[in-house]
Amino acid sequence: MIIYRARVYDTPVDPFDGGEIRGDADAGIAVDGGAIVARDAFAAVRDRWPEADVVDLRDGVLIPGMIDTHVHFPQIRAIGHLGRPLLEWLDHCALPEEVRLGDPEYAAEIAAEFVRGLVSSGTTSALVFGSHFASAVDALFEEGERVGMRITSGLVTSDRILPEPLLTTPDRSRAEAAALIERWHGTGRARYAITPRFAFSASAELLASDASLRELADDLWFTSHVNENAAEIAGVAEMFPDARDYLDCYDRAGLLGRRSILAHNVAPTDAELARLGELGAGVAHCPTSNSALASGFFPLRRHLEHGVRVALGSDVGAGNGFSLFKEGAQAYFMQQLAPTGGLPLAAAHLLHLATSAGADALGLSDRVGVLSEGMRFDAVWVRPADGEPLDVGLRHAQSDDDAVAKLFALGTPADVARVWIDGELVTSRR
Ligand code: GUN
Ligand code: ZN
Repeated sequence: MIIYRARVYDTPVDPFDGGEIRGDADAGIAVDGGAIVARDAFAAVRDRWPEADVVDLRDGVLIPGMIDTHVHFPQIRAIGHLGRPLLEWLDHCALPEEVRLGDPEYAAEIAAEFVRGLVSSGTTSALVFGSHFASAVDALFEEGERVGMRITSGLVTSDRILPEPLLTTPDRSRAEAAALIERWHGTGRARYAITPRFAFSASAELLASDASLRELADDLWFTSHVNENAAEIAGVAEMFPDARDYLDCYDRAGLLGRRSILAHNVAPTDAELARLGELGAGVAHCPTSNSALASGFFPLRRHLEHGVRVALGSDVGAGNGFSLFKEGAQAYFMQQLAPTGGLPLAAAHLLHLATSAGADALGLSDRVGVLSEGMRFDAVWVRPADGEPLDVGLRHAQSDDDAVAKLFALGTPADVARVWIDGELVTSRR
């Protein structure tokens, strides 16, 4: 038994539904075997377990482990290209790097860099866009297992338009995916996600073959891209003339359900939003990527009005880093700047989007996303170096909202001092 003594912030009630930040200036969180067995005022928890070890974290701030709902494993070395829209960026920046993951040794190196990039930024669970190469997807799951991360991922499939080494066939990809599902789905914290890259690079036959994987397990996840860029959307409309809209390309193949997360969706129709809401599906909002590729403004208000689950995605490498603090801040900026239809975001919304909203979208709310009794201890201790602006800000914050706003305004991976997953310390800088 360990008692963590800390200033804690989380969002047990959805702030888009009236919830507020739950702030405890001096909480005790008792953890046993990775589970939170009590959370209360420190003195009360201490009284219950006077013999327990106490880890004193009062010098910083403790929040739930963050949850990235859209991030590309093969793109860590592609971060930082400037000035190209989606399809050009894919051709010049992302896809040449993705081809390199055909080399298993290279893929293992990238997997280590990638998982470290996530965890050292405070991300403890992620829906990861895998690789077109099954051996590289194995490398990712192996590294996730070694570190203990909660990774949902799968083989990325495409059978047209992309460079030849990234193409597959319906039969080949089905066989490779089936083997990956057998090895990884439900193994430890790993789960499998069916992952066609986007309808732009997939035939209807490939989407149907991807959907047939559902026969192998009824709790597989699904992820892909949708409605990200005008040229992409126009191309998809031409390639799928019978589809009602972009979303329908996936829907008519039988790919969509509650366990689906679509990335971007900056230009949805009302019919698509209504369908996503009806399915209970989620959308990964990727604000730095939407800005970097000039993909457009994310209509958050319309998503929420249609009951669509929304959480944050870093979309590395179009997004420019792993930090969900940065994504939260960028989401805030973009809603502020919208000429019409913007939704003003408060600190509680940002913390929710980076934690409990991700847990909800990924079906993990029964174990992570908040630091309540009964949950697993996935947590991030933010402890900036003495005298840094975030340190000053946290010490002088006027309220819980103010402190959390400062986390998002000023927090970087360098401020993430410790990270725990399931009670295990996986990052320790201070
Ligand atoms: N659409 C298809 N592939 C990608 C990708 O790698 N990144 C982004 N942002 N959009 C995509
Ligand atoms: Zn993406």
